[in-house]
Amino acid sequence: MSNEILAIRNMSYSYPGRKIFENINLDLDCGVFYALLGESGSGKTTFLSIISGQDDRYEGEICYKDREIREIGLTKYRRSGVSIIYQNYNLLGYLNAVENVMLAMDISDNVRKPDAARALELLDKMGIDEKKARQKTSKLSGGEQQRVAIARSLLTDSPIIAADEPTGNLDWKNSEEIVSLFEKLAHENGKCVVMVTHNEELAKKADVILRIDQKNAVINVDAVQQTVQ
Ligand SMILES: Nc1ncnc2c1ncn2[C@@H]1O[C@H](COP(=O)(O)OP(=O)(O)OP(=O)(O)O)[C@@H](O)[C@H]1O
Ligand SMILES: [Mg+2]
Repeated sequence: MSNEILAIRNMSYSYPGRKIFENINLDLDCGVFYALLGESGSGKTTFLSIISGQDDRYEGEICYKDREIREIGLTKYRRSGVSIIYQNYNLLGYLNAVENVMLAMDISDNVRKPDAARALELLDKMGIDEKKARQKTSKLSGGEQQRVAIARSLLTDSPIIAADEPTGNLDWKNSEEIVSLFEKLAHENGKCVVMVTHNEELAKKADVILRIDQKNAVINVDAVQQTVQ
């Protein structure tokens, strides 16, 4: 049975005077951890914006569970299909981790009412114990803050996690730990994880490396580390 969650068909994208992608055909599967590599300015953030329903100025089709995302409605797709993780965590520093997660529960319309027990459970799963979860997030380390952001992203139970340089502000040890979390989310929780990184060594920990070839405006599936059933 196919695990396909997103099918990118003949997708092209340009900014005025600059072609970024031309005729991309790519299937993304649940249970697979993808690393997206490419030089600065090659289009990594643009690609994530397109597949996460934040930019609809592409040609071709992006199908989520066989339906074009513009037909589903980008707002609806963003709410239920995809979670986005940023390099700078996007937490409210004056709130603690539980409050950050609960705030997201409050503004998501497809999850249960704010529930501290559920927030603590998600945080614990991501390696944030209750003591840490009760501290202001501005007092946590970068690695811990990113764990909180990942816990928050799990609230909506979206099948796709799109992360734009999530380890960009972290040292090697923390980067490896965050990457291990993504690996776990793909392999144990069946998520389709797409992680942008500049780091070739980190990218090697993914199942599949997608490499943007800027000159030809294409994406090469550059290496497959292991077979995922
Ligand atoms: N709104 C925009 N209008 C015009 N050009 C843009 C716009 N946003 C990005 N670009 C250009 O498109 C190209 C791709 O940008 P993008 O941000 O996707 O690259 P990136 O691979 O994420 O780079 P980085 O590694 O530096 O984050 C860059 O040359 C950028 O200058
Ligand atoms: Mg970028």
